[in-house]
Amino acid sequence: MTDLLARRVSVLGPNMPTFYNIPLHLIRGEGVHVWDDTGKKYLDCYNNVPHVGHCHPKVVEAITKQAQMLNTHTRYLHEGIVTYAERLTAKFDHDLDQLIMVCSGSEANDIAIRMAHAATGKTGIISTDNTYHGNTHLVTQLSSRKPPIGGYAPFVKRVPSPDTLRPLGGSLEAQGKAFAAEIQKAIDELNANGHGFAGMMLCPVFANEGLHDLDASFLKPAADVVRRANGLLLCDEVQPGFGRCGSHWWGHDRMQIKPDVVTVGKPMANGHPVAAVITRPDIMAGFRNAFGYFNTFGGNPVSCAAASATLDVIENDNLVENANTVGTYFADQMSQLSHPIIASTRGVGLFIAVEVEIDGTPATTEAALIVENMKDKGILMGRTGRNANTLKFRPPLPFEKGHVDQVIETLDSILDTIG
Ligand SMILES: Cc1ncc(COP(=O)(O)O)c(C=O)c1O
Repeated sequence: MTDLLARRVSVLGPNMPTFYNIPLHLIRGEGVHVWDDTGKKYLDCYNNVPHVGHCHPKVVEAITKQAQMLNTHTRYLHEGIVTYAERLTAKFDHDLDQLIMVCSGSEANDIAIRMAHAATGKTGIISTDNTYHGNTHLVTQLSSRKPPIGGYAPFVKRVPSPDTLRPLGGSLEAQGKAFAAEIQKAIDELNANGHGFAGMMLCPVFANEGLHDLDASFLKPAADVVRRANGLLLCDEVQPGFGRCGSHWWGHDRMQIKPDVVTVGKPMANGHPVAAVITRPDIMAGFRNAFGYFNTFGGNPVSCAAASATLDVIENDNLVENANTVGTYFADQMSQLSHPIIASTRGVGLFIAVEVEIDGTPATTEAALIVENMKDKGILMGRTGRNANTLKFRPPLPFEKGHVDQVIETLDSILDTIG
């Protein structure tokens, strides 16, 4: 382990993040479990990429079969590519009929922003002030994690993110209108500084912001403001997409808004690197006219086979319904935990958040300790939110109620020793 860590630093460079005080060396995965190099088994409540379960045999088989047959790119005709694109666009119900496939969520969001530029002829983009949408030069301008060299570009405005414990406008009821008012202010500033308003990018469940407690109509005032200003609504579905929300396939449907562009990634092919941008034909035509676009690896026949098999498993194993049933049970069990450190528990399908505070102050150190202790007791999970004090549980979708019980029991015993 130490030797592997030293070699890793030596060859991958410094500041290459690892999880945990002693980095975990994972060897194998199956379903909702992974095993480390000592043979220890962990329940995986962190990884949303192996959406239908680690190393799902149907996905592995599809990748193997297609890799044995042919792997080229999207400049040749290929049945598997077109069929997958038809299947995926059919999952969207309001004229989002065309897509581009790429290799990562970052690339997808980069294209979404450029689609807004092409459609409006303007460059101003709005995001929240506590988010992450990816790592390209353009998309990092929206990220609140590390400012770009030279500071943020003036064509990006960041509006305060919604919050559960400290809601905009002073209450959860007032928060939707207060959020929309902040967006209007940002649009006015972009118009005044000459960039104009091209669009707003947001995750419809605000996953990286801390998965806040928002009712289904929360985004309506914000969407109205964006529309009135002739901007595009760009929904980043990298986290909530493909049924994680349980109630719906897409976060934007759960939040009752109709975006102009949707991006998907992480869970799309259960770990095979493919992502997509889905939009209306008029926006696609504007983008293609302005930029062309070709992606060597994006949406190749092997990627489409993996993505298609992933769709099959979600549908055949009723995993969206499972996310709903088990997610509701998870949120319910979590809300019954009673410890002074728990300030809020929230759930959107199989995405559960627990915000921890001590005397009204974010318990960031304690949250880190909880994540570490959970790992020691065989459960992988993480942290999110502005102060990294929101515990995050986001398991593969074949999660069962028995797994929930294991998490609750373990967390309960750890919280007894903390705070
Ligand atoms: C909401 C969101 N969008 C986009 C991305 C970037 O995706 P990728 O790492 O595939 O480029 C991430 C990654 O964590 C994300 O959480």
